[in-house]
Amino acid sequence: MEKRPLLEVRNLTVYYGTVRALNNVSFAVGEGELVCMIGPNGAGKSTALKAVAGLVRPKSGEILYDRNSISGLHPEGLVRLGMSIVPEGRRVFPSMTVLENLEMGAYARHDVHRVCQDIEEILELFPSLKDRRRQKAGTLSTGEQQMLAFGRALMSKPKLLLADEPSDGLSPYYIDVISEKLKEINGKGTGILLVEQNARMALEICHRGYVFKIGEIMMEGEGKELLSNPEIRKVFL
Ligand SMILES: Nc1ncnc2c1ncn2[C@@H]1O[C@H](COP(=O)(O)OP(=O)(O)O)[C@@H](O)[C@H]1O
Ligand SMILES: [Mg+2]
Repeated sequence: MEKRPLLEVRNLTVYYGTVRALNNVSFAVGEGELVCMIGPNGAGKSTALKAVAGLVRPKSGEILYDRNSISGLHPEGLVRLGMSIVPEGRRVFPSMTVLENLEMGAYARHDVHRVCQDIEEILELFPSLKDRRRQKAGTLSTGEQQMLAFGRALMSKPKLLLADEPSDGLSPYYIDVISEKLKEINGKGTGILLVEQNARMALEICHRGYVFKIGEIMMEGEGKELLSNPEIRKVFL
């Protein structure tokens, strides 16, 4: 990797009870890099993301962020360090308005005076939310809720954004929007670790990708390289 490493995960092993979900998995994201994880259902992609976000406790392995170990840190602490997650299934607060959801994303910040300004910036990035700022999040379409989930995650000004299956359940129109927004967010310098079932979309936009296969990484490479790999094409595209 040419870029300075932002996230380095080494030999990660995770169990749920007696079931091993990840076996000795290593991956990295450079500063400002867009990295994807693809692979079949149940392969352990979400588990890898959750381990990084402090949502599951690994049995063994090292997780370094900005060269410091973050193993054992709680999600709130990780947000303060500059890591933010767009969880699987979006999880916006349905009875709160768009604005309130965005404000929730800024909970770890102390520069309150800048928050309003940042909300406006996010509404510029997701114009479809602009006219709906006082609407309850639960009344938004799935695609708009996904935009809001991204907006909320961006409110903490992350250096590393983790996103779990953001295209899931979205119409082709919104899958295109998401893919454009991921590029745009990354283009402004935010590192992204993207877990996707939609391998084509993910490989088209990422710099590098990891291909998972039941608890392990079976292949890694540049997005373009993986996109043209015959084995990947046969299984995932
Ligand atoms: N909370 C959980 N409790 C028990 N097993 C789980 C839990 N979450 C995931 N698993 C299991 O761990 C494995 C990896 O799951 P997951 O990380 O969700 O895969 P992916 O995101 O690639 O679909 C699967 O076998 C899954 O059934
Ligand atoms: Mg998953």
